[in-house]
Amino acid sequence: MVKICCIGAGYVGGPTMAVIALKCPKIEVTVVDISVPRITAWNSDQLPIYEPGLDEVVKQCRGKNLFFSTDVEKHVSEADIIFVSVNTPTKTQGLGAGKAADLTYWESAARMIANVSKSDKIVVEKSTVPVKTAEAIEKILTHNSKEIKYQILSNPEFLAEGTAIQDLFNPDRVLIGGRETPDGQKAIQALKDVYAHWVPEDRIITTNLWSAELSKLAANAFLAQRISSVNAMSALCEATGADVTQVCHAVGKDSRIGSRFLNASVGFGGSCFQKDILNLIYICECNGLTEVANYWKQVIKVNDYQKNRFVNRIVSSMFNTVSGKKIAVLGFAFKKDTGDTRETPAIDVCNGLLGDKARLSIYDPQVTEDQIRRDLSMNKFDWDHPIHLQPASPSAVKRVNVVWDAYQATKDAHGVCILTEWDEYKTLDYQRIYDNMQKPAFIFDGRNILDGAKLREIGFIVYSIGKPLDPWLKDTISMA
Ligand code: UDX
Ligand code: UDX
Ligand code: ADP
Repeated sequence: MVKICCIGAGYVGGPTMAVIALKCPKIEVTVVDISVPRITAWNSDQLPIYEPGLDEVVKQCRGKNLFFSTDVEKHVSEADIIFVSVNTPTKTQGLGAGKAADLTYWESAARMIANVSKSDKIVVEKSTVPVKTAEAIEKILTHNSKEIKYQILSNPEFLAEGTAIQDLFNPDRVLIGGRETPDGQKAIQALKDVYAHWVPEDRIITTNLWSAELSKLAANAFLAQRISSVNAMSALCEATGADVTQVCHAVGKDSRIGSRFLNASVGFGGSCFQKDILNLIYICECNGLTEVANYWKQVIKVNDYQKNRFVNRIVSSMFNTVSGKKIAVLGFAFKKDTGDTRETPAIDVCNGLLGDKARLSIYDPQVTEDQIRRDLSMNKFDWDHPIHLQPASPSAVKRVNVVWDAYQATKDAHGVCILTEWDEYKTLDYQRIYDNMQKPAFIFDGRNILDGAKLREIGFIVYSIGKPLDPWLKDTISMA
């Protein structure tokens, strides 16, 4: 019986291992983590992450062939295949600060593997890491090995949060990179055999190590670039009277372009896009490729611009000040169907509004008050893109109220802004919301999920990203 151990029970490790366990009943899968509360939560009815469908998968396998444990060393030493899915944040200090990936967690995991291993191991890179990390890990393992053979594979995960289970059940592709030696190929085959339990063979791509590592950064950079391209267009649409939805529909019909990932928004967020692009930029700079680095920097700059633009639009349309005004914020997670707030555009937008002395009433169905307060007072790392919006001061955070109901959030508000595309926001009773708001009542739809025409009939002044502007907003454009 093959034994798999995954180090790191986070957004990637947890769901991925649960699905491997479900699809491979004969493989024993143990997910280990140094965080006791995380493992306790994985073993309870209240899983540490919210992901549609995850509860059912975990319930079906936990205690049978899926285990969660803090006994990291024991399970690592017993495993044949070890996935490493620890966090790789952006470095905040020292060489490469603000751009390079911080590999502290990775290195300590590798050293621990070398210490406790008593049999040959396949070590699989699951978390996104800079190109050539596998080489570094290989060095740590082989220099510390006691006659034990290690094969390093890169098997980047492409799941998106909110659809993780669906993505894992039916992936566009599984990518496995390894050494081009006979032992390397054998290791690739062993991992391929795991995925072949449910993924069609033609969707399992094998490459060399560096191609696999770079593909993950490239895929995320391409996806983020699409969003920045659309968001850049959205500004031009507002200026010219074009409608970004119509433009994207027409553009996306070109089969060379495709229709997905073309939704204009208040900006992209999430733990991957910005981090991976920064990482890519750093690698380019280290290789003397300044022009290439500058090209990718622009994707992040446009994303910052988009968040800034949204805040400016709100302030300028509300008579150039939101001081003392109540603004309802619907949505704080970086996208719908997740409680994750890493790099969410809501942090920048809320801080921008607080900087103009607004009072905020925030409602998100999955994000706790503690999390929101922590995020708003966090010091964002300053890289060489303009950090426009400073973290909220302790006194500003006092002007934040977190509630569990959209009607309460919007009561007596001057404006409503939608920052996450939760389905439940589409079916709210907007007449009731309007009746309970200050007038003129504004809605700023940062995700284009609402029907602007219906809202205008009710009486709202409506701003939708990249759509023709209401006369009111056009009049204030010069102030923006
Ligand atoms: C992303 C990649 O999609 C996934 O393949 C990779 O493994 C991890 O990074 P994730 O960050 O979970 O996944 O979510 P994703 O759906 O890609 O959305 C990222 C951000 O872009 C969100 O803030 C989302 O709201 C935004 N977005 C997405 C848009 O603004 N417009 C779009 O059309 C699509
Ligand atoms: C383009 C558009 O494709 C077409 O829809 C529009 O109506 C006119 O402009 P065209 O310029 O004739 O058409 O050719 P296209 O196939 O798009 O190639 C343009 C250039 O890009 C060529 O020099 C081509 O060699 C290059 N190219 C294209 C690449 O370098 N790599 C690619 O993957 C594709
Ligand atoms: P991701 O989104 O990539 O899954 P997360 O931050 O959600 O990242 O999860 C990474 C997990 O890895 C965290 O739960 C963290 O406690 C765990 N971790 C980090 N270093 C180690 C280590 N050396 N041993 C075990 N677990 C670790």
